[in-house]
Amino acid sequence: MAIERVFTQPIPDEDRFLTSLRPQRLDECIGQGIVREQLRIAVDAATKRGEPVDHVLLDGPPGLGKTTLANIIAVEMGRTIRITSGPAIVRQGDLMMLLTQLDTGDVLFIDEIHRLAKVVEEFLYPALEDFRVDYTTESGVGGRTVNFALKRFTLIGATTRAGMLSAALRDRFGLHCHLQYYSTDELTQIVRRSARLLQVRADDHALRRLAERSRGTPRIVNRLLRRVRDYADVRGDGTLTVQTVDAALDILQIDQLGLDNLDRGYLLALMKHYDGGPAGIEAIAATMGHERDTLEDVVEPYLLQIGFVIRTPRGRVARPAAYEHLKVAPSRRLSDEATLFT
Ligand SMILES: Nc1ncnc2c1ncn2[C@@H]1O[C@H](COP(=O)(O)OP(=O)(O)OP(=O)(O)O)[C@@H](O)[C@H]1O
Ligand SMILES: [Mg+2]
Repeated sequence: MAIERVFTQPIPDEDRFLTSLRPQRLDECIGQGIVREQLRIAVDAATKRGEPVDHVLLDGPPGLGKTTLANIIAVEMGRTIRITSGPAIVRQGDLMMLLTQLDTGDVLFIDEIHRLAKVVEEFLYPALEDFRVDYTTESGVGGRTVNFALKRFTLIGATTRAGMLSAALRDRFGLHCHLQYYSTDELTQIVRRSARLLQVRADDHALRRLAERSRGTPRIVNRLLRRVRDYADVRGDGTLTVQTVDAALDILQIDQLGLDNLDRGYLLALMKHYDGGPAGIEAIAATMGHERDTLEDVVEPYLLQIGFVIRTPRGRVARPAAYEHLKVAPSRRLSDEATLFT
């Protein structure tokens, strides 16, 4: 299988490291049972019929394995994958170039597909449905529209915001896979595999502790493994124990639940500036001096998942568990919560 990157940035060192830990086959993947089953059936059925897999939409928070699964689908089908992202495709011509280069069964992976420009998105519709495109060579009076037939390809779209996709685009995917946060058991298995691949010595309790402090996310557990290994190499004999894990993560200011400064900053802004809420995301972002997008993509999904925050029609609200965890005295509002939903 060949991988081609089109219009993407060079890969930084940290990503190269993470890429080396990516499972290559569906059977090597840990967790995501439902998604794996859906993809297994789609791949096997397509193989049996000698057809390309239906277009697949993968959605879920960052670092759960969308890019990994896209690559795996291409490997399982024995096809080439071309990798690009929504914001990188600026003009119809860019997409035209990508589409016409695809061979039968090839996979086109568009990361951050919710950020595709509207004109590009509309240009994609006939390509997905009928495997053809109407391309206008020049705008204005001299413009000529040429109808191109494409080979039958598979589009894999990845997004952290399925809600931002237009219904028209969403409906053109035959398969919609929703990735969930991983359990501590699953993350322990993932980090055990990574430690083996990186030849890091670690006892099982240490691996489990790392998993507990990784926000349900494989990318985070792998990144923390690297940091803890550094710590163990410098301050110990290179072996990971519960003590080295705890000491290293404390230095990184990652707490017992895996929350970092950004997570805590968000909660404290909500609790202290907005009396626990309800507060709008724009207001919280402004208070923190942070991008709203980062908070919505990275911070909130996990806090919602663990029940520290809820979304109400009037804004975000901090829950008692969050107050307990951060040892902040709850405001009187908590007892009035029932009124929030009226
Ligand atoms: N099921 C899995 N089993 C083992 N490791 C995994 C699994 N899924 C992901 N990983 C690891 O987690 C890392 C992050 O995964 P990946 O880059 O695919 O996430 P992503 O969902 O594409 O994130 P983003 O939204 O930021 O692009 C990978 O490099 C891989 O090492
Ligand atoms: Mg990705």
